[in-house]
Amino acid sequence: MIINRNILTLDEFTIQQLRQIPNATGELSSLLRDIGLAAKRINVEVNKAGLVDILGDAGSVNVQGEDVKKLDLFANTQMVGVLKHGISCAGVGSEELDDFVVFDDEISNNSKYVVLMDPLDGSGNIDVNVSIGTIFSVFRRVSEQGTPCTQADFLQAGVRQVAAGYIIYGSSTMMVYATRRGVNGFTLDPSIGEFSLSHPNIQCPPSGKFYSVNHGNFFQFSEGVRKYINVCQQKTVETGGPYSQRYIGSMVADLHRNLIKGGIFMYPTTKDKPAGKLRLLYEANPFAFIVEVAGGKATNGKQRILDIVPTEIHERTSLFIGSRNMMEELESYIDEDL
Ligand code: AHG
Repeated sequence: MIINRNILTLDEFTIQQLRQIPNATGELSSLLRDIGLAAKRINVEVNKAGLVDILGDAGSVNVQGEDVKKLDLFANTQMVGVLKHGISCAGVGSEELDDFVVFDDEISNNSKYVVLMDPLDGSGNIDVNVSIGTIFSVFRRVSEQGTPCTQADFLQAGVRQVAAGYIIYGSSTMMVYATRRGVNGFTLDPSIGEFSLSHPNIQCPPSGKFYSVNHGNFFQFSEGVRKYINVCQQKTVETGGPYSQRYIGSMVADLHRNLIKGGIFMYPTTKDKPAGKLRLLYEANPFAFIVEVAGGKATNGKQRILDIVPTEIHERTSLFIGSRNMMEELESYIDEDL
């Protein structure tokens, strides 16, 4: 087999993009390279999770009250480490940490960005070899450069994101990231240890065949959501169907599939989780940014996800996200709930 060595690597691509922006400093390229490095290290451990004693609970409970798996801790340490040692990030907020971390050294205080992340989403699936992922969101600081970053930098509406992305540790490992210029996907080429551009300019199809929701919660959903799910199940060829239900329970995997193939993902509020389950800053915001840049939509059922101004870093939200036409049909049902 002849291997095409002309495909751009992640670094080559970000530098090429940089050249098109007048006055760009290269900090974002550098930050994406740092995240790519952490992703490669996490990938190695995820791949060998079945072989070494890294599986299982670390024995503590994170701030969300969930068991922390050892790989969650490893992923968190790697992500925080590369960002702290890099030149582009003044601090991080992580699903795994009680509070945001201010790096507070001369280089970090002079850098432009802060990062919010879920270092290893879907980690409940690690033990059964299901795809999991890392999600990240990048904001330009609102605090003055040259000083330590502050809470205000982390509590910005998602619409102010500069970039967002995810890494999926699946049958192959991919990094997908969005800036306002577009969404691009890079597959890890193990032969050279580099993410290589495999999915340029990803567009979310306006309609798809998949709807993704935890059906076990059906009777806890609002009337509008239940009506829409019934509509999904009754789709015929004449009405754009039939739809297939696909729900892995690992958001990165569910949303990666729907982004590429078209579909809708829903995690509504339930009676048990009246504020929703997913985290606005680490899960909903970055995916809303990616999906909107790719042509889709994301709401909490009442407003656009990217317009929500957070009041605390671990805030939860309901989430409806996906292909534009499917979202518009959903909205015609959930508007009745308002
Ligand atoms: P966790 O990181 O605790 O495994 O949570 C996974 C998240 C998200 O990835 C997924 O879409 C959702 O929780 C699944 O929740 P349910 O099991 O309640 O459907």
